[in-house]
Order: sequence, then structure tokens, then C-alpha cells
Amino acid sequence: MLKGKRILLGVTGSIAAYKSVWLVRSLVKEGAEVKVIMTPSATDFITPLTLSVVSGNPVYLKPYNPDTGEWHSHIDLGFWADIFLIGPATANTIGKMAHGVADNLLLTTYLSARCPVMVAPAMDVDMFRSKPHQDNLKILAERNCIILNSPEGDLASGLTGEGRFLEPEEIIYELKNYFARFPEKKTKIAGKKILITAGPTFEPIDPVRYIGNHSSGKMGVALAEKAVQMGAEVVLILGPTSVKPVPGKIEVIHVTTAEEMYKAAKTHFPVTDIAIMAAAVADFTPTETFNRKVKRGKEDLVLRLKPTRDIAAMLGKQKHTNQLIVGFALESNDEIENARKKLVRKNLDFIVLNSLNDDQAGFGYDTNKITILDKSGNQKEYPLKSKSEVAGDILSYLQEQI
Ligand code: CTP
Repeated sequence: MLKGKRILLGVTGSIAAYKSVWLVRSLVKEGAEVKVIMTPSATDFITPLTLSVVSGNPVYLKPYNPDTGEWHSHIDLGFWADIFLIGPATANTIGKMAHGVADNLLLTTYLSARCPVMVAPAMDVDMFRSKPHQDNLKILAERNCIILNSPEGDLASGLTGEGRFLEPEEIIYELKNYFARFPEKKTKIAGKKILITAGPTFEPIDPVRYIGNHSSGKMGVALAEKAVQMGAEVVLILGPTSVKPVPGKIEVIHVTTAEEMYKAAKTHFPVTDIAIMAAAVADFTPTETFNRKVKRGKEDLVLRLKPTRDIAAMLGKQKHTNQLIVGFALESNDEIENARKKLVRKNLDFIVLNSLNDDQAGFGYDTNKITILDKSGNQKEYPLKSKSEVAGDILSYLQEQI
């Protein structure tokens, strides 16, 4: 499972740093390629020489080699790695990561890493439980870092409690689990850049109210996860939803309004091979937003709405011959006819139709029932399936178009 995987290990100044020697040795035995970055204080606990010998690679300590002046690019290390594992990670490094401090090579590499980041904390129990540290962990988790468990146990301080650095075999188990979720398959979309919009958009009326819809974002997130499993590079532009994509390989851009979604899509589309427009974008937004909460009164409140920009249609206009766009249509009547009109109007390659008349399908459900209509006039109906299976069907159809 770890054979040929490129693992960048970041070691920080914790007494548990000695365990990283065994961790590196075990990873190499599993067939992984390992490179190590150490923070300056990590070198107080173990020597770079030890980790360089067990990894078979030079250890990175500074942004440059002080003897030759050779620059060690933090960007290159992040590009090279399949995963950046930071462990043992001290409260200090975790705090700096959470707040964008970039005063050593490990931190600059973290800030510019495009690969998934896994963090294995190690510290004393009270430090671990402290509010600032717990807040910092939350910030990192929100930014899609995979935070490993710090189980209870005997600590170097003599105390017993949480904060223990996982044993090397436990970390290897977590890495294998991670890579099992993202198996590399040779598919036609492997290596393709896919842009996915998902979820609803909220259009603010005043600081507490908005116009929204019932989209959960589940279908778009399922598509993003499936596409990553199939080897694609995914940028997910996600409206406000409680659904959380599995942390790691998906680049998630959180947006709230249709205008924000439009801007993010416009920025990313030029470098995109395939765009999948699964978002339920609000069609109208208030012409003006009140700065203060609108107070209840005796009179009717009239809200004036203006149409939002049609993101799919805008991308359809810009589309080059080597780009594909997939749209969605949710219809309540004359479904096929309406979906075909949208396909043409927005210059899509195919459209995924959901009917509001199907039970257990669409907004909020974990299942969906779709019909695909393509620009060559083909039509394919699918039975009710889980959203993850539906994502697989859509991506299989997509592969036939490439
Ligand atoms: N879409 C979009 N931007 C919008 C509205 C829709 O990108 N402002 C995309 C949706 O993500 C979907 C497709 O266009 O892929 C069709 O969305 P839908 O709401 O069904 O179509 P509309 O053009 O809004 O037409 P209507 O709501 O009137 O049926």
C-alpha cells in the first residue's frame, strides 16, 4: 500500500522525535520514499545524520545549504510529496501553522504545500487540553489537515493523559488507511483538472437573513471524492453546507453568494479540463442588502431582486474545444424538454437531469435518480442509487466523452 509513495516527514522539537527514526525506517521498509524536514529545535533531540541515514536522503534543515548556497525550495518539496506528515508536531508548530507563521523551512513548506497534510501532535496532557491548542487544532482541521489522534498514555513529563505521539506502527496504519481511500487507478480522468461547484448559495438580505435553498451539496461532494479516487485533481467551489468533504486531496474553496461562486469559477476555469456544475445557485439576489437588521413593521416589506450571473452559461461561452462542461437540471415538469433547452442554452456537453417528481431523489437525500442527456442527442436513464454510486455513473459517462 505504501510502496512507491512519496512521504515528506516534518519533525519538530519534541522528546518523541526519537520515534521518528523508527517511523522512517518502517516507512522505507514498506517501500515508501521518505524525505525529512527538521525544525531547528528538533535537532536538539535527534541528529539530522540519523534521519538522513535511515531515510537514504539528505535531511532538510534550512531553506538553503549554508556550505554551497544551494536553495532548497519549499515549493518543490510540497510538489514532490504524496503526503506531508508532520509528526511529532509540537503545540508551538501547530500554533504557528494555524496562524501562518513562516519562520522555518517546515512552516514555509506547510504554507505552500499542495499535497495533503497529516498532523500527529505530541505534547504534555495539560498543554494538549489547553484552549489555545484545541482552537489551533480546530483551525487546522477546518483547513483540511488530517489530525491524527493523540491517545492517553504515559507521557515524558511523568504525567498520564492525552497528548501521546502515536507509535510508528499506528501512524503507518493511518497512512495506509488514507491511501486506501484514494487508490490510484489508471482512468481517463486521471491527472485531469476538474472544477466542481456544489451546494446552495445564500444571498444576504440583512446581517441575519438570506435567500437560500435546500441543496445539501451532497451530490457535488460525492462527485469530488469519486473524481479524486479516479486520479483527478479537484477544485471544489462549495456553497454554505454542513457536508464536509474528506480532508486531503480536494482543494475546497468555500463561498457564500452566487457572485462569490461566479468569481471563483471564473478564476479557475482557464486551467480546468472539466467543469461540473452541481451547485444550486440562487437565480435572484436582493438589489440592496441592509446593513442593519430589518425591523418588524406594520407595512408589507417589499424586496427587489435582480438575477444573478449564470455561471454555467458564462463558462459555456468561454469554453475551448478541449474543455468539457457538465450541468445539472432540476425540473418539475416537461423535464426532458426543459433539460435539453438548458443543455443548448448553456453550451454544455451533457446535462444530468433530476426530476422533482421522483421519490428519494434530489435535495437532502442520500440517494438520487438521474437521466443523462448529451449534446449528440443521446439519453440514458439510471435507477435510484446512492449519491456516491450516481457520482460513479456520471464520471463513467464523462470518461466516454473524453
Ligand atoms: N447554474 C449556474 N449559475 C446560475 C444558475 C444555474 O451555474 N446562476 C447552473 C447549475 O449549477 C446547473 C445548471 O446551471 O448546472 C442549471 O441550473 P438550473 O437552476 O436548473 O437552471 P436555471 O438556468 O437557473 O433555470 P431555471 O431555474 O429557471 O430552471
